Amino acid sequence: MKNPVNKMAKNTYIIFTDRRFAQTAYKELKNRFPESEFFRSGENREIRVFIGEIEGDAEEILYNVRTKKFSFVDIFMPVNARLGIMKEIHEEIIETLKSLLKNEQDKSFKIEVKKVDFRTELKAKEIEILIGEALERSGFRVDLDAPEREAFIVFLEKEVLISVIDTDKEKYILDYFREENKKRQNVVNRSEFKLREAIKFFGIDLTKVQKALDIGAAPGGWTHYLAEQGIKIAAVDNALLSYARLSEVAKLLVITDPEETENLKKITKKVPELNLMDVSDINTIADFGKYGIIHIKANLQPDKKIELLQKLGKFDLLTIDANIPAKECSYIANSLSELLNHGAFLVMTVKLTTRNINGYIRVINEELSKMYYGVSIKKLPYNREEFTAFAVRK
Ligand SMILES: C[S@@+](CC[C@H](N)C(=O)[O-])C[C@H]1O[C@@H](n2cnc3c(N)ncnc32)[C@H](O)[C@@H]1O
Repeated sequence: MKNPVNKMAKNTYIIFTDRRFAQTAYKELKNRFPESEFFRSGENREIRVFIGEIEGDAEEILYNVRTKKFSFVDIFMPVNARLGIMKEIHEEIIETLKSLLKNEQDKSFKIEVKKVDFRTELKAKEIEILIGEALERSGFRVDLDAPEREAFIVFLEKEVLISVIDTDKEKYILDYFREENKKRQNVVNRSEFKLREAIKFFGIDLTKVQKALDIGAAPGGWTHYLAEQGIKIAAVDNALLSYARLSEVAKLLVITDPEETENLKKITKKVPELNLMDVSDINTIADFGKYGIIHIKANLQPDKKIELLQKLGKFDLLTIDANIPAKECSYIANSLSELLNHGAFLVMTVKLTTRNINGYIRVINEELSKMYYGVSIKKLPYNREEFTAFAVRK
């Protein structure tokens, strides 16, 4: 049963959400497309899949989705074919793909398989190879690194959905599959991906950022990424950072309580990688001068200012990734707003301690709107029990 994407018809879309945010995602979908139907169609431990039947010009709908991004929907793709599960399912998929890809056969392609709640012996990767090789034998050209088209094959319990996308078009939504399958890059930790995703999703222009304030910085993933971009960073956390890794990208100064300073100095002398790092106590006058990263080894309390921060000049970016709930991190963001230039960006992860997601969204909007505009929220692929908020300093 083929279902090519038509103009002005009722088309089928496949929608992926994080399972914990599925209800909020459903509401978002209904708000955006009130006349349309969304059916719950499959789920596993992480994902819930909806099938949407939406009337209207497919190009316009996808443009709408691309530009007015969803906060709690991870993937939104048009469905080109729906196949019932049968014995020869792989053969059936291959035949369907041949007919879907035969226009412009010279374009290269890549297969992405996602098994949601379908049970088979074969792993997703093995199915990708099996189908990819069969298509190659039929004259189609695979390109795993820079394909011109991507064929997504989603295995649900009772059916298989196929979606073919031109990769030269802007992505419909953050590419969950790619993020998930990404090889580890030169990062300090997986947190670093969260910041990369936020920058990409919220469209943050880092060329406008000269100085950043990173709260909850340890072990240093976000600081590392920002320092790599040539940004000067004041990193605040009572825990130690990965000084050896950070020293590879910037000159480091660590500022501690006077009782800790001597001890840390001794350690840095013993470790060759840390020889270039400076340590001083919190009563010293510090400025960025020759340093790319200043680590203030202390915890920030909403009602207690770290005076040193005020001496470091105004910042163009505030990041908060401190494992703390919505209210507390909004207070911290507001109390630090006086250290920010107008137009400075805020990126903040919000820990979920209950399932009341709408409550968190309300708190974030109410609190942040006092000092920031353009508050928006996104459950990013690398967020776990949390989501990410973005705003701009008024
Ligand atoms: C998830 S980790 C941060 C990871 C970091 N963004 C990275 O990329 O490596 C959370 C950190 O927040 C710190 N933290 C929690 N409350 C804090 C506070 N009030 N002030 C500063 N840091 C805090 C913790 O010590 C912990 O190291």
